[in-house]
Amino acid sequence: MRPSPGGAFCCSMEFRSARQAILQLLRTVAPADLPALLKWMRTTRDFDEFTQDNNDSILKNIADDLRNCLPLETMLFSERLALQKIQQRPEPTVHVDAFLYDEDFIDSLCEEGKMSRNYCMVCGSHQTAPLGFISHSFSLMELKFIYHHVLPDLSGKLLVDVGSRLGTVLYGGYLYSSALQLYGVELNGDFCQLQEMIIKKYQFTDRIKVLHADICTQDALLQNADVVIMNNVFEYFLDEVEQARAWEYISHNVRKQGSLLVTVPSIEESLSGLQVNIQLSPWVEEVPLNYDVYPGNDIDREALEQIHLYKILQQ
Ligand SMILES: C[S@@+](CC[C@H](N)C(=O)[O-])C[C@H]1O[C@@H](n2cnc3c(N)ncnc32)[C@H](O)[C@@H]1O
Repeated sequence: MRPSPGGAFCCSMEFRSARQAILQLLRTVAPADLPALLKWMRTTRDFDEFTQDNNDSILKNIADDLRNCLPLETMLFSERLALQKIQQRPEPTVHVDAFLYDEDFIDSLCEEGKMSRNYCMVCGSHQTAPLGFISHSFSLMELKFIYHHVLPDLSGKLLVDVGSRLGTVLYGGYLYSSALQLYGVELNGDFCQLQEMIIKKYQFTDRIKVLHADICTQDALLQNADVVIMNNVFEYFLDEVEQARAWEYISHNVRKQGSLLVTVPSIEESLSGLQVNIQLSPWVEEVPLNYDVYPGNDIDREALEQIHLYKILQQ
């Protein structure tokens, strides 16, 4: 029993009486407003919070905590190179972290005038074009796809997230998988502190460890990993020479036969334009993924299709 807003105590409603109460409420709505209300009930995402499981709620609470510590664009002053690189893109681009801001959240920020999906092409006119959006984290949907549909059972396994940033891959792995150890390696010390804060608050310390380091110093960790995750790690954060060196390092050390490598985008796309000498066919074999696991229109299929899985072929 819990106090009702009026101060009296009420019992939780059973299905029949809840349905009666909803029908009763609908009968009180003005006929002119009823179609719009029914349409809202059929299409809204406002009921999501009642259908999600507890792990989703924990991840959403973590996102709330992180949002309160970070600027809207989720980039830090210490990320000067990444900021410059994104400014050089031909189309105007904004950073929107997909873990912290889902589509509904972005819509409400746009309604409040705090964000825009479009930019004005000719100043003062009404001609507009869509802005490019860049996320530096996986969204909740991408994390669930990876742990529920891309990776096998991870009991007893060691997972390494290269460039763990806000720690989303690690928290997702803690909640959605049985991985024994989840290691994040992150170059930026500010993000390591944020991850430590969350790991402590949510008591994830038994399975998650974060290392403040350049991945190119972590040969032993990479050699022992059963799963390595690389979500757009180097492209925006290193210059091309450093990217090439980092990929060479990865290809020399991620060699445990049968281990798995998850990348966004594909390895081929990441390496194109870089001066590297990496032979893919003796090293990895791509495992085809089924991207049709979530029916419905509100699924960002394009984002899912960027996720690639590879099996390591040789030591
Ligand atoms: C796009 S974010 C990935 C975020 C996270 N893995 C996720 O999927 O949500 C890439 C991160 O890699 C980090 N990074 C870039 N180069 C690195 C390196 N050589 N060693 C460790 N971290 C690196 C960047 O600082 C950035 O935070």
